[in-house]
Amino acid sequence: MQGKVCLVTGATSGIGKAAALELAKRGATVVGVGRNPAKCEATAAQIEATTGNRPNFLLADLSSQADIRRLAVAFLEKHERLDVLVNNAGAINLSHRKTVDGLELTFALNHLAYFLLTLLLLDVLKASAPSRVINVSSTAHERAGINIDDLADPLSYSGFVAYSQSKLANLLFTYEATRRFDGEGVTFNALHPGLVGTNLLSSNGLRGRVGGLFLRAFGRGVSKGARTIVYLATAPEVEGVTGKYFVDERAVASSVPSHDEGLATELWELSSRLTSV
Ligand SMILES: NC(=O)c1ccc[n+]([C@@H]2O[C@H](COP(=O)([O-])OP(=O)(O)OC[C@H]3O[C@@H](n4cnc5c(N)ncnc54)[C@H](OP(=O)(O)O)[C@@H]3O)[C@@H](O)[C@H]2O)c1
Repeated sequence: MQGKVCLVTGATSGIGKAAALELAKRGATVVGVGRNPAKCEATAAQIEATTGNRPNFLLADLSSQADIRRLAVAFLEKHERLDVLVNNAGAINLSHRKTVDGLELTFALNHLAYFLLTLLLLDVLKASAPSRVINVSSTAHERAGINIDDLADPLSYSGFVAYSQSKLANLLFTYEATRRFDGEGVTFNALHPGLVGTNLLSSNGLRGRVGGLFLRAFGRGVSKGARTIVYLATAPEVEGVTGKYFVDERAVASSVPSHDEGLATELWELSSRLTSV
């Protein structure tokens, strides 16, 4: 991965941090995205101590569209190429919360941030072709349908429903991007990392701590959780492979709704309207 630039969101914890470490180990120029300066600094120091290759970190709260736009500008000021974009940052929010943009938080962070950051960086991805966009989804998508009219400002809220919908949105986005940008040298793939012992539920007080214990007791370790990301970012045999969903480094079928092209178009148009791109 020498000479390749990899941008990883959510690189301060869990799967994203483990992926950033492995990519650094393989010699890539890693740019991590985090929202907490102290955590970014500590993660950069830890990855440098382990790999001898220090990642740069850029700060952004990815639930804020203004922050995502600043992030894209800051990245482009420092880097002339982008070989791999890993859209990974995400959360399960058991209570309904709104972002600074007035949108439901889970939808905004888990889907709209993937959408907006990718489109803001599309030109540099194309200029760096062959390049790869990797969207971290989940098997949780299998439980979901999407009511387009209810995404940004739902009438009633369930944290697990919102999370599952956002992970279905990751797949609809991946497949629609593949159709829209076919032949432009950028591949789009999604993955499920497995059940992994991470901080995914940590923003939920006591319920989150109990959930975290469950994830750690039954989930795999973070380096195993990062394996499919690293595979999609580095494996020569995935060069040119696009529009697929991977689990444990193998392309597998995703749910029937994830292949609904009408739904994907509606989601794209909604996302485009909400982010003004
Ligand atoms: N863990 C699982 O079992 C599992 C299963 C399927 C899919 N996934 C997916 O894996 C991805 C990574 O999650 P994880 O399990 O590794 O959880 P995690 O340990 O909580 O890591 C999430 C990362 O996202 C960052 N993040 C959260 N909200 C953010 C915001 N508003 N702005 C910027 N960054 C933000 C976190 O930053 P902080 O460090 O500052 O909190 C952290 O770096 C998610 O997309 C999740 O849906 C996880």
